[in-house]
Amino acid sequence: MNRKEIIAAAPNAEPERQKYFMELVKELVAERARKKGRPLTCFISTFGCQMNARDSEKLLGILEEIGYVQGTDENSDFVLYNTCTVRENANLKVYGRLGYLSGMKRKNPDMMIALCGCMMQEPQVVEKIKKSYRHVDIIFGTHNIFKLAELIYDRMTDTKMVVDIWEGTDSIVENLPVERKYPFKSGVNIMFGCNNFCSYCIVPYVRGRERSRNPEDIIKEIEGLVADGVVEVMLLGQNVNSYGKTLEHPITFAELLRRVEKIEGLERIRFMTSHPKDLSDELIDVMRDSEKICRHLHLPLQSGSSRILKVMNRKYTKEQYLALVDRLRAAIPDIALTTDIIVGFPGETEEDFEETLDVVRKVRYDSAFTFIYSRRTGTPAAAMENQVPEEVVKARFDRLLKEVQEIASEVILRDAHTVQKVLVEEPDTHEEGFLTGRLSNNTVVHFKGDASLIGKIVDVSLDEAKGFYFMGSLK
Ligand code: 5AD
Ligand code: SF4
Repeated sequence: MNRKEIIAAAPNAEPERQKYFMELVKELVAERARKKGRPLTCFISTFGCQMNARDSEKLLGILEEIGYVQGTDENSDFVLYNTCTVRENANLKVYGRLGYLSGMKRKNPDMMIALCGCMMQEPQVVEKIKKSYRHVDIIFGTHNIFKLAELIYDRMTDTKMVVDIWEGTDSIVENLPVERKYPFKSGVNIMFGCNNFCSYCIVPYVRGRERSRNPEDIIKEIEGLVADGVVEVMLLGQNVNSYGKTLEHPITFAELLRRVEKIEGLERIRFMTSHPKDLSDELIDVMRDSEKICRHLHLPLQSGSSRILKVMNRKYTKEQYLALVDRLRAAIPDIALTTDIIVGFPGETEEDFEETLDVVRKVRYDSAFTFIYSRRTGTPAAAMENQVPEEVVKARFDRLLKEVQEIASEVILRDAHTVQKVLVEEPDTHEEGFLTGRLSNNTVVHFKGDASLIGKIVDVSLDEAKGFYFMGSLK
């Protein structure tokens, strides 16, 4: 069969179609490896959030299935950047790295360079790459990562750059290979996309409309993970609190958690991200009554000013946010709260910023990700005229960071000198013979111990608080 006939013979249904292409590419990769006298290597660099991290595990699953082995850096035969575009500096990093790759490709002409992720969903980015970065081989987006094998087949059997970007999709492809970064914990997508259109945010444009996976598929995936040694899952979605609304048989996120809780052998459940406007009392009850849901909630504030929140299209006020925090703390006194805050949204005055500081002081977060507002083309906020001058934003950012860090270093003392259950995650990167683990409330602890404990839940005494983490000892 020639190339055209081979492609025409591919099944239309997924995942069968991808399995077909995986078999074909496996041959092509093996042939190249034979010529080189060594296996082909691949390297994925992931920018951005947990969603991208999980997508990269799926992409690596496909690459390993077709015969690539994992390389350690960009000096590899297949280099893939899974990009983020939430803030401008993430984009700039990608262009910088692409420039550097062009030199490497000159030395290794067989090298393949692929780009995917949120940044590729922006038409002007794709145009720029087609024009100025012609050494890129494959570009795809956020809706078709499952197609990687087919795209590689296209590129390996043709001479042109392969560009395949979808504007959206209704379908969710299940049952493709995945290669997890950690054997004992895993992210699990429960939904894709976002319908909120916060006025600063590009995510709804690049990740598309909200789509929930069927609860049965989610449970089946987690059961499979647990059978494979996973003890902790992180349920992933841009707005998990609106999970299930668009399903044929709608269920709430709280109900999904009840079902996940029942999975035997699963020890810990985390989830991310919760939109305050959709956090129900039912969810608070489920968290309170759960043995497995971690004592941690990430609850993005974005701004403490009700006026700014309105322009941000967040659909809650400062008072409503604080009342929600009170309800959470009343039900679950030991819950750790973390947040995201944007400084310098258009029109933010000193008074607005003071409101944000006020919420930070009232809530006393365990930690907070603080961001300088970044103007994203195509979002409503980018067109607003009253952008805040850079020096003003920078000064506010520094004040906020200082406040957040001071509070975090006090809040952590709550657990000092107690013994806590810790999931051991990896060898400590700073000290030989030490391990790093996480408490249920997500705080990190380092302690002396043998690497055989990795993946186990152990009792650790939290001896000394060091700013935002603990030094501890095994009990
Ligand atoms: N500028 C700065 N921060 C942003 N975020 C989203 N969009 C922007 C932007 N344009 C932040 C929000 C969100 C987090 C993932 O990134 O705080 O919660
Ligand atoms: Fe962006 Fe708002 Fe959706 Fe979060 S909820 S992804 S901030 S639009």
